Amino acid sequence: MIAKKMHVDVYERNFMLFSAVLLVLFATAVSVAAFGMGIQVPAPEQRVDPRTVATDPNSPWSAPGLREVAPGKYDAYILARAVPTWEYLPKELTIPAGSSVSFYVTSSDVQHGFKIQDTNANFMVLPGQVSKLTIKFDKPGTYNYICTEYCGSGHGIMYGAIIVTP
Ligand code: CUA
Repeated sequence: MIAKKMHVDVYERNFMLFSAVLLVLFATAVSVAAFGMGIQVPAPEQRVDPRTVATDPNSPWSAPGLREVAPGKYDAYILARAVPTWEYLPKELTIPAGSSVSFYVTSSDVQHGFKIQDTNANFMVLPGQVSKLTIKFDKPGTYNYICTEYCGSGHGIMYGAIIVTP
């Protein structure tokens, strides 16, 4: 018995070809973004106990703020909280232009968000988990950070600012 060649309609064949090309295109776009442009999804950095993260003297969030780890390189420990009031600690960070800042953000109570205006930083802040993302600030100016997850009646007043000096 001779196998008959399968008949594929020309529209169907073109559509399959188009789908295959799209897949290659998407895979290329994701690879270029991740490896070429360094755009990455914030990874859960570590686990902490939300009940003690703000009070334990061994926890960096008991004294939130900037640490200069190398010239022009900073670690920023930021605590998001709804109790006793909706705020980020610290409310303000000042760095010189050209600085690279690694943000370590966690919550001592409920779920919050963390978005920095004019950057691609926008991630969830979960109690018990540390969210980390590194951003380089080349342009002087004020970059506000705001809460992007509804966290209670004071959600709208939950913000802070990064001041980048020339
Ligand atoms: Cu914190 Cu909304």
